[in-house]
Amino acid sequence: MADVLKKIESLRDEIRYHNYRYHTLDDIEIPDAEYDRLMRELQRLEDENPDLVTIDSPTQRVGAEPSGALQTVQHRLPMLSLDNVFAEDELREFHRRVAEKLEFEDGATDLQYAAEPKLDGAAVSLLYEDGVLVLAATRGDGTTGEDITHNVRTIDSIPLRLIGDGYPATLEVRGEVFMPRAGFDAYNKKARAAGEKTFVNPRNAAAGSLRQLDPKLTAERPLDMYVYSVGLVEGGDLPDHHSDIIMCLQKWGLKTCPERRVITGVEGCLDYYAEIGEKRDSLPYDIDGVVYKVDSLSMQRELGFVARAPRWAVAHKFPAQEELTKVEGIEFQVGRTGALTPVARLDPVFVGGVTVSNATLHNIDELHRKDVRVGDTVIVRRAGDVIPEVVSVVATRRPKKTTRVQLPTQCPVCESHVVREEGEAVARCTGGLFCKAQRVEALKHFVSRRAMDIDGLGAKLIEQFVEEDRIKNPSDIYHLTKEELAERERMGEKSAENLIGSIEKSKSTTLPRFLFALGIREVGEATAVSVASYFGNLPAIIEAETEKLVAVPDVGPVVAKRIRDFLDEDHNLEVMAKLQASGVHWADTEPMQVAEDGQLTGKTFVITGTLSGMTRDQAKDLIVKEGGKVTGSVSRKTSYLLAGDNAGSKLSKAQSLEVEVIDLDGLRNLLKD
Ligand code: IVH
Repeated sequence: MADVLKKIESLRDEIRYHNYRYHTLDDIEIPDAEYDRLMRELQRLEDENPDLVTIDSPTQRVGAEPSGALQTVQHRLPMLSLDNVFAEDELREFHRRVAEKLEFEDGATDLQYAAEPKLDGAAVSLLYEDGVLVLAATRGDGTTGEDITHNVRTIDSIPLRLIGDGYPATLEVRGEVFMPRAGFDAYNKKARAAGEKTFVNPRNAAAGSLRQLDPKLTAERPLDMYVYSVGLVEGGDLPDHHSDIIMCLQKWGLKTCPERRVITGVEGCLDYYAEIGEKRDSLPYDIDGVVYKVDSLSMQRELGFVARAPRWAVAHKFPAQEELTKVEGIEFQVGRTGALTPVARLDPVFVGGVTVSNATLHNIDELHRKDVRVGDTVIVRRAGDVIPEVVSVVATRRPKKTTRVQLPTQCPVCESHVVREEGEAVARCTGGLFCKAQRVEALKHFVSRRAMDIDGLGAKLIEQFVEEDRIKNPSDIYHLTKEELAERERMGEKSAENLIGSIEKSKSTTLPRFLFALGIREVGEATAVSVASYFGNLPAIIEAETEKLVAVPDVGPVVAKRIRDFLDEDHNLEVMAKLQASGVHWADTEPMQVAEDGQLTGKTFVITGTLSGMTRDQAKDLIVKEGGKVTGSVSRKTSYLLAGDNAGSKLSKAQSLEVEVIDLDGLRNLLKD
């Protein structure tokens, strides 16, 4: 019995250590399979010896039964909030008050602050008694919170028992539970597919998940926690600087934010704010500002508190990424391929650093799912460079007599029929280049830098020319004269001349650019390059049957059909001929030599990772020349995954589908016989 107990305890210690490596340090020592083996072994020993199961065992994360209601918890030390500043002068004022109260004489230029991102999640208190997690509570109103121990125990990165030694007998740790963005997106995607309720933002997701009555539900939510302070401490001592305390917490297995830093003076604060602001959109979690805390605890004591917030800390907020505003209209915009995108016209609102007056509703299904109506008050979100979107409607503020928005049956621009193919989220105008909206977008694409690269023919000019029917198709661009351009508003002699120059220059192009510029659906730059180098010249492409097109690396049946459909339209052939007649030209290349009956005929490859001694394009050529096909994603139909170093998700996908994985030597072997 004593032996079993010893074995169990050593297994638990080992597992806790690996949890710490994995969650806190993000630096694993053993593969997942080995970790699973340790867990199974512990589980088996505990199953055989139920008396030896303890509450802090790593096997006991999702144990509790659903509760009827959450119990309230009194915080022995209140959980405070922070004062906010938004602008630089407010921050300087905060710093000045701190310096004055601490009787600094030189403006406190060398005063040290512990700086951390302000996480956008839910504040949680964790109580450890002799290193064992005994209670977890929400902040609530700061004095009274709710007992969420059963749920918090399911969060893998929160230790059920602290590791190492030297922690106080009673240690209350505080921090923020949050849902990382990737987890949030994945969760919502799954929920949407299952027709279940989605979360509005990661913060609501975290708060809502913590307040579940059934811990099994919480366990399914991808939650994480960074700790940022301590509360009640008894029976032991902690260091006398905030930053050192946080280091201790990390050493004991709690997770802390990797962006935290000690900085000097108000200038240090401003630099930190700018730096984290730059990083904001690329961080894997939402933040709404940064927090500066006077690092020295003795100074903190000297500064004390006002009402519910400390005088020694402040939150420096970033511009809000979500705001409320009113929907003044809902319109459908027509894109290059005819796709109808519902757009909300908004009462202008300052959000994410700019004034927003339009927000996308993505597509008709999204619009119906959110049920946005004219007159509604909505939450608008603009994060980073992402286009502004309507997150949700504030249901309680809906005026009387609103109506549900329907998909128009006719194009709002050209009145052609609107169709929506089976299983497609997108509805489209069928007008093609007859539709002025599609024409404008097609022309914008045609002149863009990576297509024909006509500098100086901007959106405004294109819109005017299309409106006047001066440009009906791209070849008309090549018949614009300097005189008519110079007559345009805000267009002088000089810029007219420059534009004519860049139109002239664009005539000398390449086949891939030309193909890409045509704006064939699903034919992006990479596909245009593949098609062009496979056939070498335009007539060969025009003649190619669908079967021949799918032989091109990276071209599947859908893309092949789109290309064929485009080429089957006489007016498209006509435009291509006109463009060439206007002087658009390129140098043809040798068609790729493809063995009809090569050593790889009938085999499909996916290439991933860094190959040694060969680029991926070279490997692709090798395969294609022998009649093989190279596609972009692994499926059951893939014959081989050619994997180099640092292969990522494609490798795991291939393994899970039992697709054979080979390296360059493996490929050479296939080519040998
Ligand atoms: S310190 C007395 N640090 O912000 C110190 N709070 O407005 C109180 N928060 O309820 C908290 N990240 O939920 C602190 N690095 C951080 C934080 C942070 C987010 C939240 C916390 C608190 C609220 C205060």
